[in-house]
Amino acid sequence: MAKIFVTRRIPSSGLERLQTQFEVKVWERDDPPPREILLEQVRGCDALLTMLSDRVDGELMDAAGKQLRGIANFAVGYNNIDVTAATQRGIAVGNTPGALTDATADIAVALMLAAGRCFRTAIQNVDQLGWRNWEPMQFLGQEFGGKTLGIVGMGRIGAAVAKRLHFGWDMKVVYTSRSTKPEMEALFGARRVSLDDLLTESDVVSLHTSLQPETRGLIGERELRLMKQSAILINTSRGEVIHQTALNGALLNGTIFAAGLDVTDPEPLPSDSPLRQRENCVILPHIGSATHIARNRMSNIAAENIIAALSGRGMPYPVA
Ligand code: DGY
Repeated sequence: MAKIFVTRRIPSSGLERLQTQFEVKVWERDDPPPREILLEQVRGCDALLTMLSDRVDGELMDAAGKQLRGIANFAVGYNNIDVTAATQRGIAVGNTPGALTDATADIAVALMLAAGRCFRTAIQNVDQLGWRNWEPMQFLGQEFGGKTLGIVGMGRIGAAVAKRLHFGWDMKVVYTSRSTKPEMEALFGARRVSLDDLLTESDVVSLHTSLQPETRGLIGERELRLMKQSAILINTSRGEVIHQTALNGALLNGTIFAAGLDVTDPEPLPSDSPLRQRENCVILPHIGSATHIARNRMSNIAAENIIAALSGRGMPYPVA
């Protein structure tokens, strides 16, 4: 019977499908398996179901052994996997596209509101000072109606954010993307522009690009200086896309108004990270896909990827 190692507890929907056909071992704890244990646990496995926080490299694949045929990442992003190493070893790699589009787009909108309307200072005031008075000059934030939204990476999630904010808040949409998106342009007049133009024009910049060598540190000091002083920067993609020291400086100096981050580099942020001190920075613990619906879908898709790989068919959701 084929053996599978699942590196964390996941919703039962997909897991049960695997358990009826294969011998499945699950790392039953919520914290990641330490590297040495991971290397040991994968030994002899035919497929792995991995998380975005597991480093899946050639060493891990070799530790599993030559019978390893599939790796299904429980995420749409797969920057944690060395896909070249997998391809060289004939191992299929899959992800979970589409499963978390709405859930993540909702979090991007929530972060825009939370950062733009000073939730962090407002909540701290209630929690720590007991909110003494209503004051006309307190917690003054930004409005979004009719403003410009810049989407960096008009894929599924970027488009879902754009739809929400165009139809809900009447925002104009500019975007960057490897290719033009005629559908988005027709649907809500989105305009493809250069990154510099997007940063200069936008009131809200939302990052939806995958992490690649060319997108690491994409938003640094120069890019932040191009943004409006009233602008909000949202990141639900990967922490490494933003140069965090530069962002900390920009938030401290008032180069931009606020940031809303669902992702950081590293995750979690160390307790002495200066970014944690910035009152105009709302930080969430990477909860973009944390809904019952999204995580159930992810569980099912990851299971389908493994079942297909082990039955010699191509994965239904292979990575690009
Ligand atoms: C993903 O799937 O890549 C997301 O970051 C998880 O929330």
